[in-house]
Amino acid sequence: MQLIAEEVLRGLLPAEVIAALEDFGAERVGAILIRGLPLPDRLPPTPVFTGVVDDGDLALLDLTTLGLLSIARIRPVAYRYENHGRIFRNVLALEHARGQKSSQGDAELAPHADNFRGNFEHEVIGAPRSLMPKVLAFQGVRNEDENGNAVPTNLLPVAAILDRLDAATCAALQKEEFTLKPVASNLGLERNSVALLSATVPARAPHRYLRYNGTSGQIVPETAGAKLALEALDRAVIAAAKEHTIPVNVGAGDFFAFGNYVNLHSRPAFVPSPYPERARWLRRIFGTQNLDAGAFVDRERAPFLLE
Ligand SMILES: [Fe+2]
Repeated sequence: MQLIAEEVLRGLLPAEVIAALEDFGAERVGAILIRGLPLPDRLPPTPVFTGVVDDGDLALLDLTTLGLLSIARIRPVAYRYENHGRIFRNVLALEHARGQKSSQGDAELAPHADNFRGNFEHEVIGAPRSLMPKVLAFQGVRNEDENGNAVPTNLLPVAAILDRLDAATCAALQKEEFTLKPVASNLGLERNSVALLSATVPARAPHRYLRYNGTSGQIVPETAGAKLALEALDRAVIAAAKEHTIPVNVGAGDFFAFGNYVNLHSRPAFVPSPYPERARWLRRIFGTQNLDAGAFVDRERAPFLLE
């Protein structure tokens, strides 16, 4: 299905959009935004009470997203411990989750990488282990707050953070001396003795990879050196965010994807629209570029589902 969608899109999209997607997939850029994609004629109201919809209502939208990811050679994955193992997650403010720090809440989300307790792709080749998603993609269904304004998805390049750290701090962040706690929206276990910063850089990607979540208590240092390094990292994130945050309003018919190892993302607190036919609603999907990466639950029956 994904390959069929790719073929259709290759025949419809301008050559420069295809090239930009291929460049994104080849790691030459850290993010991509495509606006004005087709939406179904009739969209259901934002599911603010349940968080779920009949995915058949969104088939055109979802196939477009899968086709765009296929052009970029990104394979969709889901996690057993999050979003009930589903590929598409509805990002919206649930009625019963007001004040929660979650993609289905409305409180501020500090700069973070998603599912940051996993390994980077290049760390799990030949050794199936938990995987941090390499790519996050969002498709916009609609995006309005109480006043009709869009709620931004803020991007912060990891490079802008690391520029503010000295070599000794970077070396301390590469030591396996941090405990990572699961976030509010998933059921995963904490992970001990993990490095925050990749010690190696894959040949094709001239970036440093970072595991991070700026919410207090998500990362616990295990040594005095790790504590100092984490404090310096927290300060660098705050300082870099003031100068280098890129706010992106993902609206109806928009596709937005970025590297989850080379960017942090955040969301301001907002007051949701009281009208379900207007209230913010994005669809989120995780992706990997290494088909061997990660520990899959059941390769035969659920080839997209990771441990
Ligand atoms: Fe997130």
